Amino acid sequence: MRRAKIIGTGMAVPPAVVDNHLLSRCMNTSDEWIVQRTGIKERRVSPDTYRMLLRLAEAPDKVAFMKQVFDQGLDGVIDSTLTVSDLALEASQMALERAGVTARELDCIIESSTVPDFAYPHTGCVLQGKFGLTSTPAFNLQQGCAGFIYGLAMADQFIRTGLYGRILVVGAELLSSMFDYTDRGRDMAVLFADGAGAVVLQAVEGGESGLISHHLHSDGTVLDGLAGEIYGSSTYPAISKKKIDEDRGRPRMNGRQVFVHAVRRFREVVGECLEANRMDVADIDLFIFHQANIRIIEAVAEALKIPFEKTYNNVERYGNTAAASVPICLHEALMGGRIKEGDLVLMAAFGTGFAWGASLLRW
Ligand code: COA
Repeated sequence: MRRAKIIGTGMAVPPAVVDNHLLSRCMNTSDEWIVQRTGIKERRVSPDTYRMLLRLAEAPDKVAFMKQVFDQGLDGVIDSTLTVSDLALEASQMALERAGVTARELDCIIESSTVPDFAYPHTGCVLQGKFGLTSTPAFNLQQGCAGFIYGLAMADQFIRTGLYGRILVVGAELLSSMFDYTDRGRDMAVLFADGAGAVVLQAVEGGESGLISHHLHSDGTVLDGLAGEIYGSSTYPAISKKKIDEDRGRPRMNGRQVFVHAVRRFREVVGECLEANRMDVADIDLFIFHQANIRIIEAVAEALKIPFEKTYNNVERYGNTAAASVPICLHEALMGGRIKEGDLVLMAAFGTGFAWGASLLRW
């Protein structure tokens, strides 16, 4: 039977580390508040965000400084020194190297980012261009934190049906450019961060190893749970000074609502995946949940009776990197020896939409 097998993984995070103490010099928050409610101690951010935060921490009038940055960029500069496709490229290069293949040998690229380089063309295409590829099909998914799981499911179908033999699936995010780091944006600014993870999938015949099943869902009736308008046909014109002045460019979230939905949907989709494969929790060697918040993962583990040591977590170091969080965990778990040949790994993610899903694989 033809299957899709992961033959290489990679990750990339920007070098700048922002701990909770730096954030608490910018806004009214504390290390204690953030750790207690989310488990996050530090996160990685782009060089631009980092420079801005260092200045904001020293600014006597933080609201005025942040407004100036939103109005004019930092020191009048609005071009990013690091974009989401740069992070995607770095993670992809590592995955390709570990797989022992070149970008030219890919049949397809599936990239997922919540905040792209540009509204269009999509980041999959931008990434492809950075590889110097001129005809490989490239997709872009916008399933937020569930993007990597959706990407794996799509890639698996392309491989099983024989359309493609080798596919790069990437989850990359540069979210830190979105937030207001004063009190006004503190509910979201402390959670999200930047990073990328990638895998190379290859068709294999026979054997047990490879992707097994995928279980995808969305619920578009709860748009206000977690949303960002920025650019879109929900306003005319799609972007305007008025829209920004009315603060409609800023992402918004109902934290409680997201928390409750996330726990419920994780429970359901893990149950669905286990049932479809006639397995139970004891059969799974490692659970990788999207790293939004350690309390969400604890609640799911408790409800499903998953021993906590069977989960891999790094939210403490990276915060919520949306579509990048599952592939970053997968890469780190592999490098750290947490996944061995023959192991069953169940990955699950939940995010904006809401969109969520789970994938089961045998390593
Ligand atoms: N620092 C300090 N206080 C903050 C804060 C921060 N960074 N962000 C919000 N608060 C304040 C709020 O203003 C609110 O104050 P109020 O009670 O005076 O109105 C209070 O903290 C809310 O506290 P609490 O009810 O204890 O928060 P919580 O337990 O619901 O935790 C979240 C808040 C956001 C951490 C939590 O709801 C959460 O993690 N939700 C899921 C978010 C998520 O994972 N999103 C991404 C999914 S992909």
